Amino acid sequence: MIEKYVDSKELKQLLSTLVAIVGCLIIAALFGIIVVPGLRNANKPAKPTAVAPVVGESGWLDPTEFPAQKGRVIPPVDPMTLIKPSDELADIGEKLYETNCRTCHGSLGRGDGPASNVDPQPRDFTAAEGWTNGPDMPNVYKTLSEGIPGTSMASYDYLTKRERMALVHYVQFLGGYGDSAGSAEAMQALAGELAAPGETTNNKIPVSMAMEKLEGEFVFPLPLMIPIDDRSPGADILRRTVTDASRAAQVLHASEIWRAGPDALARSILPDIPSNGFSTKLATLKPSEWQTLYDALLRRIRPN
Ligand code: HEC
Repeated sequence: MIEKYVDSKELKQLLSTLVAIVGCLIIAALFGIIVVPGLRNANKPAKPTAVAPVVGESGWLDPTEFPAQKGRVIPPVDPMTLIKPSDELADIGEKLYETNCRTCHGSLGRGDGPASNVDPQPRDFTAAEGWTNGPDMPNVYKTLSEGIPGTSMASYDYLTKRERMALVHYVQFLGGYGDSAGSAEAMQALAGELAAPGETTNNKIPVSMAMEKLEGEFVFPLPLMIPIDDRSPGADILRRTVTDASRAAQVLHASEIWRAGPDALARSILPDIPSNGFSTKLATLKPSEWQTLYDALLRRIRPN
């Protein structure tokens, strides 16, 4: 059919032109898909990764979050002032309960706070059965001082004896136990414990604060220094090939492999462009330029 209009030589030409055009289209498409997105990101500096503080689902339910508490030395007290209920203790107890216990045990001590879906469940102070230590004064004091191992009931030994006793009274109030004391023996032991001199409390800080401190103490290496008035070949090549001076310094500081020479440098930084702070322009460097770059970096990045 087509032979009517073109001879076989022209047909061949036509076909090869067609093949060439399709080939060009495929190459253009590949360029658009693979190379362009890479170029677009080439100059974006890598985001520094910060250590995220631990936060519970709603921020404040996390058991690792609690008010920071500084270690203290406390003068000895007359145990009777802590064993006998008082308005002052009631106040302290209520406030401490609100900040330390309510999330698990609930405002009324029914074991139904917003963070109570743990296993075993937080104790319902009003339930008579199933206590591990018991609701008597020495028992609750023991629970607060030692925690209940293997459960989410932690030790509150960082609170002073006075604060712990204030909580004991408040727990007994919520549970409706009046101020039920323990056996004479147990009360004697409690009084002795409360009267013991030289009480200190430990420093206690929440995990998120510990992590912030760590972050603050982690020293980042100085960014690569390239003074504006430095016109040496080394400074020039750094200006051309480094897109993020902090990131580049950090990456080179973390590895020693590149120090072996220009080849090792190329092998270690080329695969990670541009996230390591170097520009795609590195791919076009001549061997002599690699040597210059290597010398310039070696002078600026001190070994660990
Ligand atoms: C993270 C959740 C949580 C917090 C916060 C918490 N508790 Fe508990 N508590 C528990 C759990 C769970 C139990 C049950 C342990 C068991 O079954 O032995 C418990 C048990 C108890 C008991 C009963 C112990 C026994 O003899 O059975 C007392 C008393 C108590 N908590 C008081 C407190 C006080 C006071 C506070 C605040 C200073 C507090 N808890 C904070 C989870 C918590």
